[in-house]
Amino acid sequence: MTLPEFAYFNGKIVPWNDTKVHVFSPVAKYGIGIFEGIRGYWNPAEEQIYLFRLRDHLERYAFSQKAMRFDAGPSDGELTQALIDLCRANQFRTTVHIRMMAFIDEMGEMGATGPVGTAITALPRATTKQVSAGASAQISSWMRMPDNVMPARIKCNANYHNSRLAVMQAQRDGYDVALLLNSRGKLSEAPAMCVFMVRHGQLITPGATSDILESITRQTVMEIAEEYLGLKTVERDVDRTELILAEEVFYCGTGAEITPVTSVDRIAVGSGEPGGITRRLQHLYLDLVTGDSKDHPEWRTAIY
Ligand SMILES: Cc1ncc(COP(=O)(O)O)c(C=O)c1O
Repeated sequence: MTLPEFAYFNGKIVPWNDTKVHVFSPVAKYGIGIFEGIRGYWNPAEEQIYLFRLRDHLERYAFSQKAMRFDAGPSDGELTQALIDLCRANQFRTTVHIRMMAFIDEMGEMGATGPVGTAITALPRATTKQVSAGASAQISSWMRMPDNVMPARIKCNANYHNSRLAVMQAQRDGYDVALLLNSRGKLSEAPAMCVFMVRHGQLITPGATSDILESITRQTVMEIAEEYLGLKTVERDVDRTELILAEEVFYCGTGAEITPVTSVDRIAVGSGEPGGITRRLQHLYLDLVTGDSKDHPEWRTAIY
């Protein structure tokens, strides 16, 4: 991997390798950090990078810190400026994935609430091949952890151990992606993605109390499906067998964008090809994130 020249660390733009924490710090010992994954889309015609829904990411970042009882960190204005400065310092002229993390630094114990460090990295990120070809999904034998055990709603580093177990199982079993059920046996989400299906022409996704991260892409899909396709999303429990009955299944997230699921447990979803509603949502989404569509300017923050 070619690494960028600069990262942001505790108030400064620094060389990539100068972003260090001690091995005995709470973030290293217990994974006590929270983060956001934000995408910046390169628009070649405008020679511009647009950060997508930054305000919503900052809001979720603040919620995660509040829920984890972190001491106050940089303001939203300081974080926005840091993101802009970092992309400019690296002179990115491509689509990037930004990871912004607040973490407990120095030598505290498990209950430490500070000092809060801030690290931001940005790396070029291309679209996966599954976005066009579709993905094969496995219903994981790992369960999504419940809200009263490890709340998925908090975007906390340590949560990703649960996701990682499912990812490793799916990869070793030859699938592209894992879908996790929750403690009630209903569909929850995928590691780093939320899930939708189309059944009887209706767009359906597990509700916000299904042990999911309240995904910004999920919210965007619901908004654009209603606005442009006249499809109001139903948020309800989803049984695993409904994924086999569904005409279409897809997952979505900042990193995964909108990716069709073409099989579940090796059983074809619909015709086994990406579905028509999924394709239309992909096009609408791509036009909005890149700024090719001028609708929803409030969703885009320009870097240059
Ligand atoms: C567990 C989990 N679910 C869903 C998502 C998708 O969320 P978003 O659309 O806000 O990127 C993510 C992405 O980071 C995630 O980590």
